[in-house]
Order: sequence, then C-alpha cells, then structure tokens
Amino acid sequence: MTTHTVKTEEDILRAFQGESRAKWTYRAFAEMAEKEGNHEVARLFRAAAESGDIHAHSLLRALHETSRATNDLWMSGMYDPKIIRESCAENLREAIEESRELSEMYSEMIRDAESDGWSFAKECFTYSAAVDQVHAGLFRKFIDNPDRKENLDYYVCEACGNTIDHEPSGSCEVCGSSKEAFKLVP
Ligand SMILES: [Fe+2]
Repeated sequence: MTTHTVKTEEDILRAFQGESRAKWTYRAFAEMAEKEGNHEVARLFRAAAESGDIHAHSLLRALHETSRATNDLWMSGMYDPKIIRESCAENLREAIEESRELSEMYSEMIRDAESDGWSFAKECFTYSAAVDQVHAGLFRKFIDNPDRKENLDYYVCEACGNTIDHEPSGSCEVCGSSKEAFKLVP
C-alpha cells in the first residue's frame, strides 16, 4: 500500500466539497428569492447551482485517476444553514464572495495540477475558476440594479459550466464548445 499523497488528489477533494456546498447554497438562495417573488434572481441561482453540479461531476471524473475511496465525499456536500441570509440582496453578496473564494482556490490548484502533470484536473480547475468569475459578474448585475426585471433565460455549458444570460449565439467563451453544448436552465 502506498502512503504517497498527490497534492492534486487532495485538491480535487477540497474542490468537490466546495462545489457541492455552493450548489446547495445556491439552491437554497433560489428558494428564498422565489419566496420574495424575485423570480429573475431565483433563475440565476438555479443556473449557478446547475453549473456547480457540472463542476462536481467533472471533478469526480478527474478523481478516477486515484485509488482513494470517495464515499466520504458524498457525506460532505452540505452547506451551513447559517449562510442563508435574511434577504435576497444579502444572499447575492454572499454568492459573490463564494464565487471569489472558489476562483482564488483554483488558481493555486491549477499550479499543483500543472506540476503533478494531471492535465484533465488542470482543465477542470481552469474552467471552474473562469466560470466562478462569470457567476460573480452575473450576481453583481442584480446588486448594481436591484429593480432589474428583465425576463432572462439562463443557459449553462454542459462541458465547462459557463453560464450566460442570453441565447447562445456562438461557441462557449470559456471552453470553446459549440453553442449546442448550452442547456437552457428551467
Ligand atoms: Fe463551455
């Protein structure tokens, strides 16, 4: 039995936990937004949750390169209920912070994957870092304009989780997939 620990393996576990927590947090934020009648923000949170799901799924695929048992991951995907704030505006700010933290975490992981030679993990980290910044920008649009009432459709790229607030007109700006890769978020 080997005791050697690959840093990227540890990073994948941390990233999976972060993405899972973000997914459930965004779903809870969406519920709160719906209760307030803020359907536009609810849709955005559902899109971000969907994207987190895609990242977590990719990370599990990247983990196939290791022999580590993954059962513990399934037990650790819950969010802290205290993170749900009193209003949609506060949740939007929390979501921006969440996106910023994830994106920062990934820059370190990209370097680890590079030096460990894990190319698919590096791709996952790179896409996720980029998309977390995209999310922060989308959340910010509602902070900057709280009365925004455009009826936006959100599309998520199934390859990288990129999230857009309009119909896809060309290839994905994050991963280069064709526009067919975008799925409308219900
Ligand atoms: Fe993409």
